[in-house]
Amino acid sequence: MILITGATGQLGHLVISALLKSLPAQQVVAGARNTGKAADLAARGVEVREVDYERPETLEVALVGIDKVLLISSSEIGKRARQHQAVIEAAKKADVKLLAYTSVLHAETSVLGLAEEHRQTEQALVVSGVPSVILRNGWYTENYAASIPMAVEHGFVLGSAGEGRISSATRQDYAEAAAAVLVSEEEQAGKIYELAGDEAYTLTELAAEVARQSGKNIEYKDMPEESYRGVLIDAGLPEPFAALLADSDAGASRGALFDDSHTLRQLIGRPTTSLTVVIASTLAS
Ligand SMILES: NC(=O)c1ccc[n+]([C@@H]2O[C@H](COP(=O)([O-])OP(=O)(O)OC[C@H]3O[C@@H](n4cnc5c(N)ncnc54)[C@H](OP(=O)(O)O)[C@@H]3O)[C@@H](O)[C@H]2O)c1
Repeated sequence: MILITGATGQLGHLVISALLKSLPAQQVVAGARNTGKAADLAARGVEVREVDYERPETLEVALVGIDKVLLISSSEIGKRARQHQAVIEAAKKADVKLLAYTSVLHAETSVLGLAEEHRQTEQALVVSGVPSVILRNGWYTENYAASIPMAVEHGFVLGSAGEGRISSATRQDYAEAAAAVLVSEEEQAGKIYELAGDEAYTLTELAAEVARQSGKNIEYKDMPEESYRGVLIDAGLPEPFAALLADSDAGASRGALFDDSHTLRQLIGRPTTSLTVVIASTLAS
């Protein structure tokens, strides 16, 4: 049986849908901190178990009879290393055969602030001795898609990514990769996958593509990280989240979101979803 943590999240849902294409529902377990949010998964025949990273007692019970776990990194930035450590300890006690962890692209060398907790988790996995495989996910294209309606309304895309190239892919692409690793008959323990989109684009190119598809005049305005952080706070984002986004953009300017290994494409057996397609579906929605 395979347990997916964070199953009520966006990536978790997509991983479960991908798994159900090749496995019977009885082999898939959805881990949710709020089981009430997983009713749709239960309706698909998937067993739902309580998995709260903050409550280790839930982890022990959830792991009974589980062979493989996908630990989807927590969304609670700042608490994640400790939360992930709790899952790793429970997986060790339960003697799971494989733990797959969603990390960040080039975690070892990444300049992104958010990479630190991923590095700590990868290190904790090594120390634990739990057989593990690392899925180092690149940026979600959806992160930028969210700013498209504003770009169309105001005529500009803002950021501090400079001319950094971004090899993003969609959650669907990363979800299919996770499912492929989990159902693979090849030995996965010890592998590290650097996962990113086939094409790389700059935010100038993103703005130009939104302009082309929408028929509006849209430009990319690059700004210093501090100013961009201020703009995001003024737009209503919580300060830590604004800081994280500005830091990630600044990291992108230094190549932190770029990868041309095409590992993701190989794992999912098809090209990754293009920026053009994501922009078109965002504009159509
Ligand atoms: N590569 C990227 O561009 C990118 C961007 C954003 C995030 N991420 C990372 O990728 C992860 C998955 O992305 P996503 O889009 O699926 O995020 P998401 O929709 O926010 O889902 C996060 C999941 O984590 C669960 N979670 C949070 N705290 C938890 C806790 N204490 N115990 C158990 N579960 C907990 C949430 O549960 P609830 O449903 O109860 O809230 C949710 O199911 C994120 O959590 C984050 O680490 C990556």
